[in-house]
Amino acid sequence: MAVKTRVIQADRLDEAVALIKQGECVAFPTETVYGLGANALDEEAVSKIFAAKGRPADNPLIVHICSMDQIDDLTAGCHPLAKDLMRRFWPGPLSLVLPKSHQIPGIVSAGLDTVAIRMPDHPLALELIRRSELPIAAPSANISGSPSPTRAEHVLVDLDGRIPMIVDGGPTGWGVESTVLDCTCLPFRVLRPGGVTVEQLRQFAEIDIDPAVFHNGVTEKPRSPGLKYRHYAPKAEVVLVVGDRIPETINQLARSPEYAGRKIGVLAVSEHLDAYPGLTVLDLGPRHDPKTAAARLYSLLRAVDQLGLDVVFVEGFVEKEIGLAVMNRLRKAAGSRVIQS
Ligand code: TXA
Ligand code: MG
Repeated sequence: MAVKTRVIQADRLDEAVALIKQGECVAFPTETVYGLGANALDEEAVSKIFAAKGRPADNPLIVHICSMDQIDDLTAGCHPLAKDLMRRFWPGPLSLVLPKSHQIPGIVSAGLDTVAIRMPDHPLALELIRRSELPIAAPSANISGSPSPTRAEHVLVDLDGRIPMIVDGGPTGWGVESTVLDCTCLPFRVLRPGGVTVEQLRQFAEIDIDPAVFHNGVTEKPRSPGLKYRHYAPKAEVVLVVGDRIPETINQLARSPEYAGRKIGVLAVSEHLDAYPGLTVLDLGPRHDPKTAAARLYSLLRAVDQLGLDVVFVEGFVEKEIGLAVMNRLRKAAGSRVIQS
């Protein structure tokens, strides 16, 4: 049965706290993307998240906390180096995969013996966790497979009638999800790149990058179950173009018989806005500023569908710092359609 979805502002956070305590799920802003949260210790509450998103049951959730004191109850031991990373990067966009305690229901960890935990750097998220006095399990607040929401409106488009409440905290900051770091192996291993970069982590620890990070689409048995699914994708076909001759290649492709008769757009860097005569061009921000690209990415992928485009060509970024996260999301959105120019 459809529920009425209410959008509230920060001054009515009490109502969101009450819903969480009653075992309901609520969408709320974090510094990365909007999350869809519920009491992480309550299996039935968490099942409502999976139902609302249409999320596969084998994809585990991140547990959000507001204080380091919560760690001991939720985990079964934690490498001292992981503790160092918490002290350095929390609150912030870093989720640590740790051995889980018996307190974490199987539904949260999708049957794994580990749990991903993070402390978000957003006042409303922290306040929601603090006042509800609970750890909050929260995936991104989108329908499974679509781009993550960076504004309350995006959540409403995806989940209207499926969840009782959205806390509107305005646009999120980072725009891509947190870095997921597996701390149950040595060296620690990045499963999903995000706001805390590999370069930053390597100042404190030896870090591997999971090969799935660089995969185009579907991997059968990845360490992070989420990496298995096509993700972050609009309905339009996404084609990622990398290399030295990006505008030339996109212009050629757009005029080739393969794409004849289709409505074509380009996500381009600011320097190339005039390079695509006749095509709909959306601005990812300056070429050497992947942070801006990250902040705009999901909103632009949603705009692609609103504009009714059939195909969108996306200019690739250099894969360092936050550019690694941007390219990871673009590869997942593009699936096998990555073209070297
Ligand atoms: O920034 C974020 O991380 C946002 C905000 C809301 O906090 N959340 C988020 O959650 O992106 P979600 O569910 O969309 O992505 C969680 C990712 C998935 O790829 C999942 O497979 C992985 O983290 N993950 C969760 N628990 C894991 C575990 N125990 N082991 C390995 N991967 C795990
Ligand atoms: Mg997600």
